[in-house]
Amino acid sequence: MRLSSGVPARVVVLVSGTGTNLAALLEASEDPAYGVNVVAVGADRKDIPALARAQAAGVSTFVLRVADFETREDWDAAFADAVAGHEPDLVVSAGFMKLAGSGFLARFPNRYLNTHPALLPAFPGMHGARDALAHGVKVSGCTVFVVDGGVDTGPIVAQAAVPVLDGDDEASLHERIKVEERRVLVDVVGRMAREGWTVTGRRVTIP
Ligand code: GRF
Repeated sequence: MRLSSGVPARVVVLVSGTGTNLAALLEASEDPAYGVNVVAVGADRKDIPALARAQAAGVSTFVLRVADFETREDWDAAFADAVAGHEPDLVVSAGFMKLAGSGFLARFPNRYLNTHPALLPAFPGMHGARDALAHGVKVSGCTVFVVDGGVDTGPIVAQAAVPVLDGDDEASLHERIKVEERRVLVDVVGRMAREGWTVTGRRVTIP
């Protein structure tokens, strides 16, 4: 993907919870040299800190709840429409706890990123930090990847390793991972926005 040079990339961020990754992206975007304009924040639930962070930054928000639609496919289509209405160059799932359906993925091919708190392909799914801890690994980390039709299976853009310490519980490990996760996500989104990217099979390259 090659974006218009000199024009900030339009980024829609999807959230479901605390929104520290969103906050890191919003803070980085304050610098015009970062090359990103967070044009909207979308959520699948109301009353979450992430939406408050977006509103405090003056960013447009939208909420569509699965429960308000007759079928999951209807929700997926409406959510995709809401995202597409903001004409994003890149869509970033940052703690968004829904799997996008095939209709959504088809709208944003190779432009939908996710971040995961484990070194994929190890420990995919909802509890990356908990599962890594339970397995007894000594190193875990975070992964930013391009979303495909599987659960945390898409082409990997960037990863960073984080040590698992004696005495860690799920919360302490996840918090240590999230520090790296924010750094990697901010770095990757900025470089993709400024330089463009290619996805060839499983390989993602930022020139
Ligand atoms: C992140 O660790 C993300 O990978 C996981 O949930 C966490 C979201 O954190 N899916 P935040 O809402 O950005 O603070």
